[in-house]
Amino acid sequence: MTLPILLHPDPVLRAACTPVRGDVAGLARDMLDTMYAAPGRGLAAPQVGVTERLFVMDATWKEGLPDPRVFVNPEIVARDGAQVNEEGCLSIPDVPRRVARARRVTLTFDGPGGARRSEVFDGFAAACIQHEMDHLDGVLILDHAAAS
Ligand code: NI
Repeated sequence: MTLPILLHPDPVLRAACTPVRGDVAGLARDMLDTMYAAPGRGLAAPQVGVTERLFVMDATWKEGLPDPRVFVNPEIVARDGAQVNEEGCLSIPDVPRRVARARRVTLTFDGPGGARRSEVFDGFAAACIQHEMDHLDGVLILDHAAAS
């Protein structure tokens, strides 16, 4: 089931999200449906009106390599390097911005059964993760200085 995507300047997009405590499997499925339908490569819970720390991502499906991912209570624990990409945001349609990010991040998150997992991401996926993590803290691409 697809969900309505909130648009800037909806104040919900500025909320600091709280940790996920309950079962969000159904919400995560709906968020993936919504992301693919948009179409986008990442979607954070506040964009569908849920101020909890959860986002979905598929960095490669548009290249024919579907890789749906769900990250619950994610935290970036390491970052290194630098990259600049033109980023879009489903909540700010048609206003892309060049944003400077770390080149590589290590993300920890709740895996199945609640055990914490850790995974390293590079390049575009790392930028996408940093973009979605910003959403969980009420930060949008407009808040970043436009990078050259
Ligand atoms: Ni966004």
